[in-house]
Amino acid sequence: MTILIIGGAGYIGSHVAREFLDQGHHVTVYDNLSSGLRENLFPEAHFIHGDIQDYPSLLRVAQGGFDALVHLAAYKAAGESMVKPEKYSLNNINGTVHILNAAVEAKIPFMVFSSSAAVYGEPAYLPVDEKHPTNPENYYGFTKLEIERFLGWYEQLKGIRFASLRYFNAAGYDVHGRITGLEQNPANLIPVIMEAACGMRAEVQVFGNDYATPDGTGVRDYIHVNDLAAGHVAALDHISRYKQSLIVNLGSETGLSVQEILEAARRISGKPIPARIVGRRPGDPGKLTASAQYARETLGWTPRYSDIDTLIKTSWEVYRKY
Ligand code: WQD
Repeated sequence: MTILIIGGAGYIGSHVAREFLDQGHHVTVYDNLSSGLRENLFPEAHFIHGDIQDYPSLLRVAQGGFDALVHLAAYKAAGESMVKPEKYSLNNINGTVHILNAAVEAKIPFMVFSSSAAVYGEPAYLPVDEKHPTNPENYYGFTKLEIERFLGWYEQLKGIRFASLRYFNAAGYDVHGRITGLEQNPANLIPVIMEAACGMRAEVQVFGNDYATPDGTGVRDYIHVNDLAAGHVAALDHISRYKQSLIVNLGSETGLSVQEILEAARRISGKPIPARIVGRRPGDPGKLTASAQYARETLGWTPRYSDIDTLIKTSWEVYRKY
C-alpha cells in the first residue's frame, strides 16, 4: 500500500514508518519537525516538511494518491496539557480535524490513529480492557478521546474506516539499532532514567513509594515501540481487509514498577543511576495495566520485545553513545 505517515519523524512515528517500509509498503512522511527529527527519517521514505495546521499544504500532500494514512502528530505531555490546554486543543484537536477533512477531500479510505490509555483515566479495575469507562484525568487524554469520537462520526457520515490504537507506556528503541534520535526534554520514566545513567541529568526523581504495589512505586504496562509499530501494520491490514473500524489497546499485559526498572537499568548499564524518592505526581494512578486480549484475537498481535531487559537494553544502546 501507499501510506502517508503524519508525525512519522517522531519517536513512535519513526518506528512505525520503519515497520511499514520493512513490510514492503511505500511511505511518505509528513512532519513539522517540532519534536520529530531529521535523523529519524529513512532514505526509502519520501519526506515532506509541513504542518497539520496548514490545511492547503496538508491537502496538497494528501492528494498524492494514498491508500491509507497513519496519524501520530500530537503533543503528548499529560502534565503540560493541564497548564497549556490551548496548545493541545489547537494541535491535537484542530490538527486532527484538518487531517480528517483532508482524508475526505482526497478520498483516503483508511486511517490509523495514535490514541492512548490516557482516555481511561483512573482505572476502576485491572487489567483495563476496551470496555473500561473512559474518563480522562488530563486534557491530553481528553483530546485523544474527543478525536476517537470524531473518528466515529466521520466513519458514519463519510465512510472512513479507522483503527484507534490505545497505547499504554511506549518504550525502548528499534531492536536492530536503526533509530537513534533522542527525545528532547523527556518526561517519561525510561528516557529520564537513561539520561541519568549517561550523566545528562543528576538523578531520577521517583514519584512516590507509598502506592499499594509490591514495592510501593508506580506500576505501568510498558510496550516496546517495535511491538507498537507492528500493531499499526496489523491494524491497517485488518481495517482494509474487513472494512471495519476498531478501537484497541496495545499493551504488554505486564506490570513493571519504577523500582524494578531502575534496578534493571543499573544492572544493564553498569551505572549507579542516583534516584531520590519525592512526592507523588498529581493524577498518577498506582497501577495501570492493559488487557490486550482484543488485539490478540482480532489482529493476531502479540508483543515480542516488551520484556524488561529488551526495553532497557535497546534504550541503553542508544543513550550509551551520549
Ligand atoms: C511511568 C511511571 C511515574 C517519571 C504517560 C502519559 C500517558 C502516556 C504514557 C501518551 C509512573 C513514574 C515517571 C519520573 C517517576 N502517554 N515516574 N519519575 O505517567 O504512566 O504515562 O506516558 O499517551 O498519557 O501520562 O508515564 O513514563 O511519565 O511514568 O517516578 O521522572 O514512572 O510516577 O509511575 P505515565 P511516565
